[in-house]
Amino acid sequence: MTQDELKLAVAQAAMAYIPANCIVGVGTGSTANFFIDELGKIKQKLVGAVASSEASAQRLRGHGIEVISLNDAGSLPVYVDGADEITQHLHMIKGGGGALTREKIVAAASKKFICLCDSSKLVDTLGTFPLPLEVIPMAQSYVARQVILLGGQPKLREGFSTDNGNIIIDVSGLKILNPVELEATLNNIAGVVTNGLFAHRKADVLLLGTASGVKTLVA
Ligand code: 5RP
Repeated sequence: MTQDELKLAVAQAAMAYIPANCIVGVGTGSTANFFIDELGKIKQKLVGAVASSEASAQRLRGHGIEVISLNDAGSLPVYVDGADEITQHLHMIKGGGGALTREKIVAAASKKFICLCDSSKLVDTLGTFPLPLEVIPMAQSYVARQVILLGGQPKLREGFSTDNGNIIIDVSGLKILNPVELEATLNNIAGVVTNGLFAHRKADVLLLGTASGVKTLVA
């Protein structure tokens, strides 16, 4: 199976987790796009969606799904999104698409987080994928120095601005043995809006696309 076929399979499996007449939280990225396309097929059964990025909002609207602000929606029953890396404990690195802050907010406001991945994303230890930090532009150099003190190698994502008008620093070289602790440490650096570790609010369910079918892992 191709990677796109695996992404489609997990997106289709996620539909079983969407209650009728709900507002659904929607992630960002190529896997989330497959999910949005599946949502389009059941749009009559949805009240609407809260999007974690402008790109996802645009795709949802393209399917005729109402995009609702999180402030108006309140608590959501379910949030569905991809990840760049995920462990068996359902800790993740996210933010490859740069939408990590809004993703973390919508995930935090959701009762259940369903993560959709193909099997290449499942890892023993997080950190091979560079960890994204969303940073206030004036703090770029300061944050980079603090990251080096923590043993990471910071790299500015050139020519990229987040939906919130900030920059992304991608950090490589970190072997992340304690994701909960590192998530808090990085968020305590002045100028970091948030980081791409989703360990404090990890996924509740992983739908993993494999050659032998979709496997379900529960936290
Ligand atoms: C975007 C994300 C995505 O969920 C992550 O990058 C995975 O993307 P894809 O499904 O395209 O592999 O965190 O900020």
